[in-house]
Amino acid sequence: MKINQNYKNLKASYLFSDIAKKTAAYKAQNPDADIIRLGIGDVTLPLCSAVVDAFHKAADEMGVKESFKGYGPEQGYGFLKDAIKDYYKAEDGVTLEADEIFISDGAKSDLGNILDIFAKDNTVLVPDPVYPVYVDTNIMDGRNIVYMNGTAKNNFLPMPDDSVDADLIYLCSPNNPTGAAYNHEQLKAWVDYATKKGAIILFDAAYESFVISKELVRSIYEIEGARNCAIEFCSFSKIAGFTGTRCGWTVVPMELEADGMSLNKMWLRRQTTKFNGVSYPVQLAAAAVFTPEGRAQIAENLAYYRENAKIITAALDELGIWYTGGVNSPYIWLKCPNGMGSWEFFDLLLTKANVVGTPGAGFGAMGEGFFRLTAFGDRERTREATERIKKLFK
Ligand code: MLT
Repeated sequence: MKINQNYKNLKASYLFSDIAKKTAAYKAQNPDADIIRLGIGDVTLPLCSAVVDAFHKAADEMGVKESFKGYGPEQGYGFLKDAIKDYYKAEDGVTLEADEIFISDGAKSDLGNILDIFAKDNTVLVPDPVYPVYVDTNIMDGRNIVYMNGTAKNNFLPMPDDSVDADLIYLCSPNNPTGAAYNHEQLKAWVDYATKKGAIILFDAAYESFVISKELVRSIYEIEGARNCAIEFCSFSKIAGFTGTRCGWTVVPMELEADGMSLNKMWLRRQTTKFNGVSYPVQLAAAAVFTPEGRAQIAENLAYYRENAKIITAALDELGIWYTGGVNSPYIWLKCPNGMGSWEFFDLLLTKANVVGTPGAGFGAMGEGFFRLTAFGDRERTREATERIKKLFK
């Protein structure tokens, strides 16, 4: 028996497990500490009533012989794929075929699983800083990773460099953790680069529902040529609070081909072999997000989180701490004050303000010296956290 040696190249544990462990250890030693968690981007508002009603309806249907459902289609029920298709058309003017949409238990799973259809000797281009799943899943497969730096100078939006050859390109827009989002012209440059290199863009659109600026892109398929070079991942977690419910989708256009193989067919083959689909109640609940009631209720939730972001950024303004994000994104990316390192600042906030955030270094080397706060917290707790931070730094 031989193990996958690539695991030896991973950090001992995943970023958010590390943070949870550190926080739990502090709490164990300080049981009275009232800890406010603005670390992992987990939502705090409950599911909206349109979604809850759909769950009830589905549960009732599952208890009746005539409407009971066993295995569903691995790619997802038609009603949900159609609802997603209509969402793309209405929001982004993008036309998709239902068979290009694959329902999953979340973007994270698919972002990792998609690598099954790509060779392990591909070169992967990854922004730094970024969601650590891209790097870790490629390390597990032993792929060669090339980083492209996001800095304050390029507004944390790295652009293509013709001298770099890449086969797979990860783009996350709005970016986790920096909140930076590409405009049409910038993404067109990425699509042109991928086309020239014969590369595939893996576009993570998990935070698209936070985009409010018209010049910014929500779906890569808004860009001409993207259907020939991009796979898009999205999730109900952030748009509708499904972090604990689990549902997402991946779009693999029919045009995507390599070595005479259709990537859509390969992904279908992979999913039908290794995945039995998302449960019927979850899919019915997800479809309710796109009903008129669901859309209106979700809009209120998004507005709530946007207001949280304003509370956080107002506090940082008051303290004169540099930050970005928080407008087209639920994340605020700040420069650690007084030249502190990311983990140093994490420890300081945890121990002196009992506030948990995410150290920028956890998102890549370029994140060192930065820190991420999430706007997904409870309103009063977010306010309280900012008061504590203000007290600490004034
Ligand atoms: C984050 O905090 O970066 C996200 O919540 C992680 C995720 O979506 O898996």
